[in-house]
Amino acid sequence: MSDSDTPSRQPAAEVEDPRNRHLCPVWIGRLLASPFRRIVEDPGKILAPFVSRGSTVVDAGCAMGFHSLDLARLVGPEGRVICLDVQQKMLDGLIKRARRKGLDGAIEPRLCDQNGLGLDDVEGQAELVTAFNVVHETSFPERFLHECSDALKPGGRLLIVEPRGHVTPGDFAESTAAATVLGLIPEPAPKVFKSLTALFAKPTG
Ligand SMILES: C[S@@+](CC[C@H](N)C(=O)[O-])C[C@H]1O[C@@H](n2cnc3c(N)ncnc32)[C@H](O)[C@@H]1O
Repeated sequence: MSDSDTPSRQPAAEVEDPRNRHLCPVWIGRLLASPFRRIVEDPGKILAPFVSRGSTVVDAGCAMGFHSLDLARLVGPEGRVICLDVQQKMLDGLIKRARRKGLDGAIEPRLCDQNGLGLDDVEGQAELVTAFNVVHETSFPERFLHECSDALKPGGRLLIVEPRGHVTPGDFAESTAAATVLGLIPEPAPKVFKSLTALFAKPTG
C-alpha cells in the first residue's frame, strides 16, 4: 500500500460550522432522559436490530444516557458502551442513572471536546455508533462524523438522528452527504418520533 492509499488519521475537513454554537443546557439533558420520552421513543426497540451481546458500541453526544442505558442492556455486562459528551455534568447524570439501574458495568463515560471525540483506541471496533440529536451541536460536524466512522468495524453501523424542525432537511442532507463521502453506505434507517434519521454501514471489503 502506498502512502497515498493509507487512510488519513487526520480528518480532511476542518471547517468550523458557525451555525452550531448552541450546546444543549444541562436542564434539558435531564428532560431528555425522562422516562416519559419512552412513550414515543423506545431506544431498546430502535437499536436492538443493530447491536449484539458482548459488542462495543459508542453513544456520541450521550447527555444523561437516554439511549446509553438501553445500549448497555443490549450489549450486556460483557459488552462496552462508550458514552461521549463535551459536558461533564451530562456524564455525571449518566453515571448516577447507570448506577441506579445496575448498568454501570458496561458504561464507559468519556469527556471529549469539540476538537475531537478521543476514540483512537476504539478504531475499527464499534458495531454501532449512535449520534442522536448531536450533529447540529458539533463545531466540526465533518470531523465528528469522520471520527465516528473510524470507530466502526467493517459492517458496523452509524445511526444519525436529528430533531425535525430544529434541523432543516437541507442541513440534514449535508450531514448525510458527509457520511457518504467517508465511504459509508446508506441503508434503510429506523423511524424515530419527530426526527430525521439516516443509517450507514461501513463496507466489509
Ligand atoms: C441535544 S443533546 C442530545 C442527547 C442525547 N443524545 C439524546 O438524544 O437524548 C446533545 C448532547 O451532545 C453533546 N455534544 C455537543 N457537541 C458535542 C461533541 N462535539 N461531541 C460530543 N458531544 C457533544 C451536548 O453536550 C449534549 O449533551
